[in-house]
Amino acid sequence: MKHFIYFSSKASTSGKALSQGDLRKAGRIDIAIHSFIQGVYLSKDFREDVTFHFIFYGMPDPPKHIEITVTNELGLNKKDISKIIQKILYKYKPNQKTEVFPKCFIEKKSFLKVIDELKKQGKEIFILDKKGESLRKIKISKEPVFIIGDHEGLPKKELKRLKQIATKISAGPKTYFASQVVAVVNNELDIRNL
Ligand SMILES: C[S@@+](CC[C@H](N)C(=O)[O-])C[C@H]1O[C@@H](n2cnc3c(N)ncnc32)[C@H](O)[C@@H]1O
Repeated sequence: MKHFIYFSSKASTSGKALSQGDLRKAGRIDIAIHSFIQGVYLSKDFREDVTFHFIFYGMPDPPKHIEITVTNELGLNKKDISKIIQKILYKYKPNQKTEVFPKCFIEKKSFLKVIDELKKQGKEIFILDKKGESLRKIKISKEPVFIIGDHEGLPKKELKRLKQIATKISAGPKTYFASQVVAVVNNELDIRNL
């Protein structure tokens, strides 16, 4: 399995905010959705070997960890993504990891805790950062985890801690949209047949 972790300090943690229809006002959930599409969808197909994690730190009840693996059973259409995130947020229950739809989970868990757990499972952690080592040159194992920030980037304090367990990698010399970075990473993995 390949993992993408999308972090947002402002993305709303309430289903109600999404029901109001303005994804930009809900802490730029639009960017989260664009990134998810690039992470999971192909032309007329989807990637069953990708799990996409959203870590939302916006109000009113941060942090929220939403984990989605698209399956045939879920049958998720691209245009329904905001609805599914909204429903998942509504179904959050305190003190438990809830499977709201097949392979779609929500829980209250911090950014660092989610990454620590993946690391403990033996996965290799990469932080997407313009100043990192070249994605094209770096060795990538079969079970990589890629961490991407929203329009405001990744949180400085947590990044300091993460440096000890993760490798910074760059997708190129420009600052790209989060969704563009996800597409570039997937393309590199496809070319390497990972
Ligand atoms: C729009 S950028 C964020 C810009 C933000 N102002 C900052 O300074 O981080 C969104 C995310 O895409 C990733 N990113 C953007 N350009 C990149 C690059 N050239 N290589 C690797 N990751 C990149 C980073 O993870 C970043 O947090």
